[in-house]
Amino acid sequence: MITLQNIQATEKFATVIGEVAKAGDNLVLTGELGAGKTTLTKGIAQGLGIEQTIKSPTYTIIREYMNGRLPLFHMDVYRIESGAWDLGLDEYFEGDGLCVVEWGNQLEDALPLDYLELIIEKDDADENKRKLTLKAFGTQAEDFKKRIAEKWGQ
Ligand SMILES: Nc1ncnc2c1ncn2[C@@H]1O[C@H](COP(=O)(O)OP(=O)(O)OP(=O)(O)O)[C@@H](O)[C@H]1O
Ligand SMILES: [Mg+2]
Repeated sequence: MITLQNIQATEKFATVIGEVAKAGDNLVLTGELGAGKTTLTKGIAQGLGIEQTIKSPTYTIIREYMNGRLPLFHMDVYRIESGAWDLGLDEYFEGDGLCVVEWGNQLEDALPLDYLELIIEKDDADENKRKLTLKAFGTQAEDFKKRIAEKWGQ
C-alpha cells in the first residue's frame, strides 16, 4: 500500500507509471467519483511525454494519444451499461500501447486477460490524501508492478 499526501504526490507517482510502461500494458483504475483516476491518467500521459491535454473520455469511451513514447488509450467505461461490453476493447488491450481504463473493474467478463489494477481511495480525515493499492492479474502485470515499485522506490 502506498500513501500519497497530496495531488503533487499523485502526479509524481503517475509520472513514474508513464515512464516505466511498456507496449501492451493494461492499467485498470478503481476508485469512487473524484478519487483521482483522471488525475492519475494526466500524470501517466506526462510520464509518456504526451503534450496534449488529457480530457475525460466520459462521453466518448476512448481517447487516443499517439505522440508520446507509447500510444496511450484512455478509456472511461462508467456510463456503459452491463451487457454492452462488445466494444472491441480487446483490440486495444492486446495492442501496442498503454491502456488506462477508468472504472475498468466494471468490465467484468470484458476485462483484459492481463492487467494491473490500481485502487485509489480517499481518506476520511484529509481531503488531499489518497491510498493506493496495486494488484497484478497476469505475468505482464506482475512485471509492470515491479517496474513501478522499483522506480518509485519508497
Ligand atoms: N492526492 C490527490 N490525488 C488525486 N486527486 C486529488 C488529491 N487530492 C485532491 N485531489 C482532487 O480530487 C479530484 C480528483 O478528480 P478526478 O477527476 O481525477 O477523479 P476521478 O476518479 O477521475 O473521478 P470520476 O469518477 O468522476 O472520473 C481533483 O479535484 C483533485 O484536485
Ligand atoms: Mg475521471
